[in-house]
Formats: sequence, structure tokens, C-alpha cells
Amino acid sequence: MADEITLRIQGLTLTATPGMTLLQALAANGVSLVGRVGCLGGVCGACVGSYPDPESGAPRTALACQFLVRDGLDFQFSAVAGGPPLAYRSAALSADLPGLMATHPEAVRCRACEACTLVCPLGIDAMAGVLEAAQGRLAEAGERLTPCVSCNLCQAVCEVGIAPQRLMLYARRAVAAAAAKGTPVVATATSEARWEALLAADPETIETAVEAE
Ligand code: SF4
Ligand code: SF4
Ligand code: FES
Repeated sequence: MADEITLRIQGLTLTATPGMTLLQALAANGVSLVGRVGCLGGVCGACVGSYPDPESGAPRTALACQFLVRDGLDFQFSAVAGGPPLAYRSAALSADLPGLMATHPEAVRCRACEACTLVCPLGIDAMAGVLEAAQGRLAEAGERLTPCVSCNLCQAVCEVGIAPQRLMLYARRAVAAAAAKGTPVVATATSEARWEALLAADPETIETAVEAE
């Protein structure tokens, strides 16, 4: 076909039609989309990867379910583990600097190198989020997280051991918990059961339960 282009994904040479996403190009070439694929909608971060900028050669990042094929592109998926599960209860978080520092003391180590910002495929200014959090500006830090797909790339590139997305997540959850006056912010198996109980309870019981949080 005249408008076919050639590119490489994960070392495989593929042909594709302009307008396809990288994942569509893989599927069109008979590659099974198992692993490194989740929502197919730019939300889960499972398909994150990198490629060299065609002009500068500098590394760029993108989501393969969103990024469109380009002739000569050389894309590699990035598998980045996010570390152990968070240990705190969101409803108990303190939306201030002492609270953040008690959970994330590493926040003060930020060297403002900008690596986390430059690597983010969603264009989130992760460094600004870290610096805001470390100054106690939690509402601003938490707001930055809105488009985050939890790909963990910002954590992977930080040489001083900061996970910017986790700092911003703390900020977001702490602010939400404060606004909700103790209402659980993140559903867990336990909170799901409590939610069911609250749905069946009378208003006085609900008020008492919330005040007890
Ligand atoms: S903030 Fe970090 S985890 Fe979130 S999308 Fe950007 S690089 Fe990925
Ligand atoms: S990569 Fe680490 S040290 Fe560099 S700006 Fe981001 S959080 Fe700070
Ligand atoms: S598959 Fe979920 S963001 Fe691409």
C-alpha cells in the first residue's frame, strides 16, 4: 500500500497505516496484545514506553494505546514496578506539612533536577508537585495528579529515591480526607462492607459513624 509506513516496536519491525495507534499496529501485524496492555483508553499506564526523538535523539515517553504510528519510530515498552503497597489509611491522613513529612520524609531530598517532569508521558510537572508538597502546599500538589496514569516512570528516574506520584497522591488523599471530615476516601474491602452497612443504616447511625472516624 502506498501509505504504509514501517516502524519498530519492542524490536519487531512492523508495517502500519497512518492514524493507527501503536497497539493497533501491533494487533494489525498479528502480535498478541498480552501484557503491557490494560484499559486501551489512556488511563491505566500499562502500555507506557519510550522512543528516541527523531530530531534530537532525546528520549521521549508515550502511551502505546494513544500514540500514533510514525515512519521510522523505534518504541520500547517500559516495565516499571511501583514498589510496595501504601501502608496508610487515607481517612487518617493529615493535610499539612507535618503529616506529609511523617509519611514521606524523603520529600526534602528533592534536588529539583526535573527528571521526573521530563519523563512523564502525561506532561505532569511532577517536580513542581514534589516541591509544593515539601512546602506544605498539598492542595496544589494533589491537583497535579489528576491526569496521572500511575506508570511510575517518575519514580524510576529519581536518583534520590522519591516517588513523585506517591507524594502527590498523599497530598490528594489528605486534602480529600480533610474535606470529607473523616469519610473514607479510598474504597477497600473493609470500607466496601462499611459502605453497605451505612446504606442500610438510619441517618443518626451514619452521623455517629462519621464522627467516630
Ligand atoms: S506523574 Fe509519574 S506516575 Fe503519573 S503519569 Fe507522570 S510519570 Fe507516570
Ligand atoms: S527526579 Fe527526584 S530529585 Fe529530580 S526533581 Fe524529581 S523528585 Fe526531585
Ligand atoms: S492500555 Fe491503559 S493507558 Fe494504554
